[in-house]
Amino acid sequence: MSDHVFHRTLDRPIAVTARGCTINTADGRQFLDGAGGAIACSVGHGRDEIVSAMAAQATAVAYVHATQFATNSVARLARRIATIAPVDDARVFPVSGGSEANETALKLARSYHLARGDTGRHIVLAREGAYHGNSRGVLDASDRSTLRAGYEPWLGQTVRVPMVNPYRDQRTGVEHAAELDRIICDTGAERVAAFLAEPISGATLGAVVPPDDYWPAVAEVCKRRGVLLILDEVMTGFGRTGTWFAADHWGIRPDMITAGKGASSGYWPLGLCIAAGHVYDAVTEARNFLHGFTWSHHPVGAAVAEATIGVIEREGLLDVSRDLGQRGRAWLGDAFSDHPNVGDIRGKGLLMAVEFVSDRGSKVPFDRTDRVAERIVEAAFDRCLTVYPCGSAVDGNVGDAVLLGPPLCVSPDELREMIDRLVDAVRAVLPVG
Ligand SMILES: Cc1ncc(COP(=O)(O)O)c(C=O)c1O
Repeated sequence: MSDHVFHRTLDRPIAVTARGCTINTADGRQFLDGAGGAIACSVGHGRDEIVSAMAAQATAVAYVHATQFATNSVARLARRIATIAPVDDARVFPVSGGSEANETALKLARSYHLARGDTGRHIVLAREGAYHGNSRGVLDASDRSTLRAGYEPWLGQTVRVPMVNPYRDQRTGVEHAAELDRIICDTGAERVAAFLAEPISGATLGAVVPPDDYWPAVAEVCKRRGVLLILDEVMTGFGRTGTWFAADHWGIRPDMITAGKGASSGYWPLGLCIAAGHVYDAVTEARNFLHGFTWSHHPVGAAVAEATIGVIEREGLLDVSRDLGQRGRAWLGDAFSDHPNVGDIRGKGLLMAVEFVSDRGSKVPFDRTDRVAERIVEAAFDRCLTVYPCGSAVDGNVGDAVLLGPPLCVSPDELREMIDRLVDAVRAVLPVG
């Protein structure tokens, strides 16, 4: 049979069924989904209650366009999110993925300033080593050289702020915030629209958690300078790090949060831009936010997300994420205590990463041509385990880490098994002694 799929990767096994943390393939193998796809599957595969919610909504109203009709399912989801998201008087704009959510947030930031007559504010600040998506607009905010290569003539408007990485940089959060303030002033505060950042760096740097004083100090700088703070919680939102949102760890309330991935656990392509009431009020009064897509405000996607939130809550998965994440990092620490190439084990909740270096003492990374992260991911796959590669963990260009982010319903035994397989894969690629 000829193949007409525009594949992303060739020669992949065919997934035929999936339940919980397990994916079964046509050739009879059972994979443990240590990466939850792309750290997306939050409540596990094959959940009947989510499928039922989806079917019920599709039967009632599968689709209407949001400029023509409102739906109860979107209204219910937005009400529910407003009770869990650390955003004042939240207003929820559902879209189809994380990149779209960030595109929405950045356009909304610009519209907000225009609505207030602050017409000079258009510049977006984002950090080195950030990942905010792969569509043409937000690719400019993302800082991963392999993804940007070839498209640079279209990019270059984002003003870069230094990354925060306690493994390689001992500066305090307050010092980083002062640097951000300096960059805002050098750029001209009256020209800066927004600071977009992941609260915990995900796909590029690999689960890097900032010092505890970082986010409160940064939020204060943004507020003082009139710069909207947009937290990209596409990877960290909806329980991944042990709280509904990573912002909750530091008690901050940004102007916008973007989400995706775990919000629908992969049952529906969903993204969310969650804006504070003052942002919504400004653009609604000015009627200047002419934004949306064919699939935005999708009633079935909203039903899926509401059901996903229900599962997380009913099964206490925030606690599971917090507790098992801590245990998982301890197990990884024990397993790799003697490994000269394991530089750092980090993360929060069930977002975990291991960074590999050519030398533990100097923290010098491997040459990128060695493809260490990719080879570990392949070795893990050979052992029927999915993990996620970060081939740019130092600075968006070089460095090797792998992310482990299983469904939050993972059992201790399953997590132990995932870690055993990962350890075996690492020792195959990077033998000791
Ligand atoms: C923090 C973050 N933002 C945005 C995105 C882009 O999301 P999507 O791939 O759904 O467009 C990702 C995806 O990995 C992400 O991790």
